[in-house]
Amino acid sequence: MKFFLDSAIVDEIRVALDLWDIDGITTNPRHVQASGKPFLGVVQEIGAMVAGTDKTVSVQTNPAHHNNWQAIVEEGRRLAPLCPNFVIKMPSTEHGFKACRVLTDEGIRCNLTLCFSAVQGLQAMRMGAHYISPFIGWKEGNGEDTDQFIEDLVDIRDNFDFDTEVLVAAVRNGRQIAFAASVGADIVTAAYAVYQEAFAHPYTDLGLHRFQEFWDKTQYE
Ligand code: E4P
Repeated sequence: MKFFLDSAIVDEIRVALDLWDIDGITTNPRHVQASGKPFLGVVQEIGAMVAGTDKTVSVQTNPAHHNNWQAIVEEGRRLAPLCPNFVIKMPSTEHGFKACRVLTDEGIRCNLTLCFSAVQGLQAMRMGAHYISPFIGWKEGNGEDTDQFIEDLVDIRDNFDFDTEVLVAAVRNGRQIAFAASVGADIVTAAYAVYQEAFAHPYTDLGLHRFQEFWDKTQYE
């Protein structure tokens, strides 16, 4: 089970790499804008942080190209050579899937983002996606169940032995991380604060406080 950080904030990424040994980074236009840095500069800076490792950095193409596969392909061809760790992100649209097929055939790995249905995921897998990114937080925010959605994607992938990794995205809490792992999803991507909260537990803090009291009243040797 791999943990990716969903961020383009270099300081967060550095801590997540050092402290949590995260396996990759996903960026999107919101994260890049929040970094306050130009797109090309910040994604290459992130790429340099994981250079020489197998950790990937997902880099999103211009959303305006969602119905123009040639434009997505052109942008993917420009971005991919900038860093061997880059995986090119395009939307789960008819043209996004087609661009994925073309880029994949050229050896460029693709991450199909904004996936909200199992059949979108299936088409991404058929078209050779390296990652499929089901956005569970957005669906749950809309009152939709996502447990079955993730299970379906994992089952479809396994039934047909596709090479695609299921990258559960827009993850909001530890329960979702644990569920994704329990049904065999390959990766989750979540914000820095989501991991921080998920790794903590109030009983751990309470237990530490109690044990400290005993420790302080005991001779060490
Ligand atoms: C995934 O690749 C996306 O960047 C991400 O999970 C989007 O969701 P959010 O920005 O709502 O968390």
